Amino acid sequence: MKNALYHEFNSKFNKEATNAYFSPGRVNLIGEHIDYNGGLVMPCAITFGTYLLVAPNEDGVFRFRSLNFTDKLDINLQDSYTKTGETWFNYPLGVIDCFLKDGHELKGLDMLFYGDIPIGSGLSSSASIEVVMAFALNDLLDAGYTKLELVKMAKFVENNFIGVNCGIMDQFAVAFGEKNKALMLNCDTLDYKAVDSNLGDYVLAIINTNKPRKLAESKYNERVAECAAALTALQQELDINNLCDIDTATFNLHKHLITDAVILKRATHVIEENDRVKLAAVALSNNNLAEFGRLMYASHDSLRDLYEVSGVELDAVAEYSKTDANVAGARMTGAGFGGCAIALVKEDAFESFSEKVTAYYTAKIGYAPAVYSSLIGDGVGELELEKSR
Ligand code: GLA
Repeated sequence: MKNALYHEFNSKFNKEATNAYFSPGRVNLIGEHIDYNGGLVMPCAITFGTYLLVAPNEDGVFRFRSLNFTDKLDINLQDSYTKTGETWFNYPLGVIDCFLKDGHELKGLDMLFYGDIPIGSGLSSSASIEVVMAFALNDLLDAGYTKLELVKMAKFVENNFIGVNCGIMDQFAVAFGEKNKALMLNCDTLDYKAVDSNLGDYVLAIINTNKPRKLAESKYNERVAECAAALTALQQELDINNLCDIDTATFNLHKHLITDAVILKRATHVIEENDRVKLAAVALSNNNLAEFGRLMYASHDSLRDLYEVSGVELDAVAEYSKTDANVAGARMTGAGFGGCAIALVKEDAFESFSEKVTAYYTAKIGYAPAVYSSLIGDGVGELELEKSR
């Protein structure tokens, strides 16, 4: 890929790229919609991701090109930028804006992006492109940000430049991911551990529903606001900063404070999901995949019934999985409203799972999903360009 990209860069800019970077996408094994509630999450970086090739220019122009989209942008160096339309280059532009506002001297940059994360699949292509841009600028300018500072900057871009009030999980996972490890991340303290994602004789399947994700951003922000309302209600009696500061038992003693039935459902999901992650961590460390799988199904059911972010497409994957003895567990992953599900599938039964889930889904939904066997990969980094020439 690097090689082909290197030549594409040459032909688009008529010069050689000086540096190349890669940032992955992610899946989340369990702990959904709780990162913005100070919860525990268990994401891993995947081997799909975003490549960025760059060369500085002396023209005072940022030139954005992508092999995935025809939209391109040439924009002169300014003191600051704002989001323009709904195009892909807003993500890296938002990162450039942060570097400028932090007082870094930028001249001009020619950039070529390529992503092999299926677009709109909920595998964090946006965090991936933000983090690869932040990592690249930090390296090129020798700006001295730590990786965690770059993660926070990327989240800031998503929240304030793009307008999605996401938590920190995606940016953290794509920056700190490690091959064959899951990250146990506490989204309140940002303490994390990379734990062996030892799946025994199971593999992680990713099932892309191929459902276009309409309204996902506004629904997402609605859920964030609902959680804030639940927290405010509980704070009448409890001295807490996040919903995930309490467990289910404590919640049950105070949940009468939440008078709105919908808000109560949202808070119940959040607090129970956080407890599930604690159980899932124990199950994983004991290699108890059956228990881990049970928790995945419970997480999916809760996201469907209480948090209401699933849909017939994601539900179809979970439904089929429950009937297949070679599957330990399955659930939607990421924000929901379409996107991807994941399943723990016996390695030697992966092909048959792939065929059967495709047949079930297609009969029910009317079009086919895409099924991948995932490889858990490393986080953001620079690529050796020399070798690829
Ligand atoms: C999106 C957001 C994350 C997280 C997940 C749901 O991926 O970007 O911050 O909230 O949804 O768990």
